[in-house]
Amino acid sequence: MAGNQNQTGEQSVNETERYLELTPKSRAIWEEAKNYLPGGDSRNSIFWEPYPFFVESSSGCHVIDADGVDRVDFINTMTTMILGHAPKVVMQAVEEQLAKGVAYNAPNEHQVRLAKILCQRIPSFDLLRFTNSGTEATLNTLRAARAFTGKSRFAKAEGGYHGTHDSVTVSLRVNPDQAGDADRPNALPSSAGLPDGVVEQVLIIPFNDTQASLKLLEENKDELAAVIVEPVLGSVGMVPATPDFLAMLREFTQANGIILIFDEVISFRVAPGGSQQYYGITPDMTALGKIIGGGFAVGAFGGRRDIMEQYDPTTPDGPSVSHAGTFNANPVTMVAGATTLEQLTPDVYRRLAELTEELRKGLRDACAELEVPVQVTGLGSLFGIHFTDGEIRGYRDVAAGNNALRHQMFLGLMNEGFLTASNLVGSLSTEMAEPEIDAFVDAFKKVLARQL
Ligand SMILES: Cc1ncc(COP(=O)(O)O)c(C=O)c1O
Repeated sequence: MAGNQNQTGEQSVNETERYLELTPKSRAIWEEAKNYLPGGDSRNSIFWEPYPFFVESSSGCHVIDADGVDRVDFINTMTTMILGHAPKVVMQAVEEQLAKGVAYNAPNEHQVRLAKILCQRIPSFDLLRFTNSGTEATLNTLRAARAFTGKSRFAKAEGGYHGTHDSVTVSLRVNPDQAGDADRPNALPSSAGLPDGVVEQVLIIPFNDTQASLKLLEENKDELAAVIVEPVLGSVGMVPATPDFLAMLREFTQANGIILIFDEVISFRVAPGGSQQYYGITPDMTALGKIIGGGFAVGAFGGRRDIMEQYDPTTPDGPSVSHAGTFNANPVTMVAGATTLEQLTPDVYRRLAELTEELRKGLRDACAELEVPVQVTGLGSLFGIHFTDGEIRGYRDVAAGNNALRHQMFLGLMNEGFLTASNLVGSLSTEMAEPEIDAFVDAFKKVLARQL
């Protein structure tokens, strides 16, 4: 396992071998799992080489794997667990609801409570609907926009992730060599099995390249129902939009009768009213997920009253846009979500943002000391680590980073007891404080030194 001393004086370590040594039970479960589940799981987004560990339990900011290894969780279920794992106040509210039943064939009041909180906080929300995932939320924003405008095509950013439905499975983590010029990206399918015509429905714009995006949007404006964008390009790298990029999108869509959709499934972490409040730019529609369900499966979409009224069954002609879902707004998710959001006061957001800034600074300082080029991105409680000396503005800059080093760092951090996403993006929870931040930075530095 341990090798020779390297130039930094650290023992060089084969991180994969150490991971294998730490996780034999996970490996056995994974081998068994592969008999029934392709690749041994149901979420490709959390597969990593050589195999993911299996979780036995979690509490606060800790996740314990099947081998009993305790790791501090710096990803929090892809940014969902903002209060950490199994927070008492949420668990208690859920237990009280469980005793009364799990899901009904009639609405429940917890839904109203959560809807009211969201409408009060989010500038773009006149009305909203709940779903069971962020995927369903973005699907419905696009459907509503198409119904409202009578047009079909839409624009999204290269590298932007909006869930797993067909329309948005275009130009995700594409190979830049196959994706055309950076300022005029090709739309590429990101999965086999998309229906004919799906890719042609999408105009791809370069995130944060305001002038190039505006040019493309102008050229296609007569065909566009919507522009959908993550105000912080999330799972691909936690890259905040520049204010001028979002302002351009707002101005362009407003001038051309096109629906501007913010996908805030991740960026809702940035401020009590989401990043639209932070940037002071109000879209026509917003998609949500993750933290608003307090750890339970959830999504929500909402926006302008005149757009959302298309869903209203009490109108004389009935709803023009179809929407259903057996588990939509079930009381367990609703009570967990409402209880979670009630904990998230402006002070909590401030504290999380300050801690995360400390983390970003610590990581930059560690890399400067070891003379390793790095860019640490993020906003609020979100962060992304990119091993490159070029500025990170959009997907192509992320793709230019040192992926081999990134993977070794991910494994090394797990070996030292810290979990991030496998592409080194992460988020904090309220269960963390300076000691966790300092410990993460120390471990990061130690693992990085082993790589040199
Ligand atoms: C920005 C964004 N939109 C949509 C989704 C899809 O949400 P879900 O996984 O709940 O379907 C995700 C999931 O990571 C996301 O990050």
